Amino acid sequence: MTNNALRQSLHLHMARWGLKRFTSDADYFAWQRIELSSSDLIQLRKVVAQKHEGGHLDEVAFYDRSAQPQILPVLYSQRYEYYIEVGSRVAACLGDAAHILDFGCGVGILTTFYAAQYPEKQFLGVDRSPASIAVARERAQGLGLGNLRFECVDVELQPIAGSQDLIVATHSLVQAEQDPGIPSQNWQTFERTHDSKQQALFEQRTGLDIRLDRLSALLAQKGRMIVFEKTRQLARRVPLQRALAARGLGLVEQPELVRYRLVEEVADDGPFYLLGMEAGSTLHWDESPEPDEGPPCDPMQFKTHATDQDAPLYENHGPSAQGVWEQLHEKRLLKDTTRQESDGRQLHVELGQAEEGVYLYCANTFDQRQLVIVEPARALMLESYYRQIVEGASG
Ligand SMILES: C[S@@+](CC[C@H](N)C(=O)[O-])C[C@H]1O[C@@H](n2cnc3c(N)ncnc32)[C@H](O)[C@@H]1O
Repeated sequence: MTNNALRQSLHLHMARWGLKRFTSDADYFAWQRIELSSSDLIQLRKVVAQKHEGGHLDEVAFYDRSAQPQILPVLYSQRYEYYIEVGSRVAACLGDAAHILDFGCGVGILTTFYAAQYPEKQFLGVDRSPASIAVARERAQGLGLGNLRFECVDVELQPIAGSQDLIVATHSLVQAEQDPGIPSQNWQTFERTHDSKQQALFEQRTGLDIRLDRLSALLAQKGRMIVFEKTRQLARRVPLQRALAARGLGLVEQPELVRYRLVEEVADDGPFYLLGMEAGSTLHWDESPEPDEGPPCDPMQFKTHATDQDAPLYENHGPSAQGVWEQLHEKRLLKDTTRQESDGRQLHVELGQAEEGVYLYCANTFDQRQLVIVEPARALMLESYYRQIVEGASG
């Protein structure tokens, strides 16, 4: 089936689940007010706030609450585009696997889609939220799916039995969304040292260690895994990739970043990984920053294109700012500060002169880069900006 046909079929499947697609946030919130009573709305907001505060129990409570019949379509419609983008990609990658596990399947919106598309394959959905699993079972039965079963298991507390040809883990492996990941060696590089202690700490903090150990142990010989997490930032992508590689998983396809629209935000997630246990992959893990869409690398070229008189001569807030800063002509440093922040990151900020003008360069070990160049007559503006960053950093 082509990806387009899979997407069409997924839209129909979503309608069967009562999920709606919205192109405007205002329309979505108007619908939310019609669908939910004010007490449901209050309760929903309370659970969402608790989840953001963290903690294992709160997360299970959040997913239990999300599975309630009146809440489910309203909450999960926010993720409509996510289901279309991720579900269609996963469905296109199931290959010849006969036994497939959907880890952290939630209420089974996507698991029931995969099972309906591939009646010849056997599916198992696992989740630690009892209410989500109850809904998943009920829906699978309602959809007449005989090739799908669900188990309520917290994989951190107990292993899953059996062997699987393919494991799907979408938004279920790397918890701790706020975890910034592993910093680079220093502010001048995007590279991470191979520090096993730092890696182990990241895996523990995010729950990745036990999940991946238990899941990879389930994979049959030459088994495959599909992974899609919120690990777009290099600082999270690198330790995820190293954790996968350490469990014997290699790339089967070039990973791909996925962009989709949620209510009140556009999410850039991923990469979407198709991985295999077979040896000899010719594809390599990419540990370089994502190419940004920065302005032209030559600041002088940028100047000739600038239309706004008040605009700086050059401004770049992406990783490519580093290359431009390295190549500035006849750089003379006026002042600089490098310091360790309380969250572990190292921050460097410098003010200098170059043939191109007066510049401010700011870099940190979580891969943020910023280069601004102005005409010498506007140097005071950059100086005050420099002070703000230094004071903000120390405060
Ligand atoms: C964000 S939802 C993702 C659901 C689904 N995979 C999707 O792509 O829409 C994460 C799910 O993973 C489940 N989960 C997280 N940690 C788990 C664990 N240790 N064992 C089982 N399920 C877990 C949660 O209960 C939740 O339902």
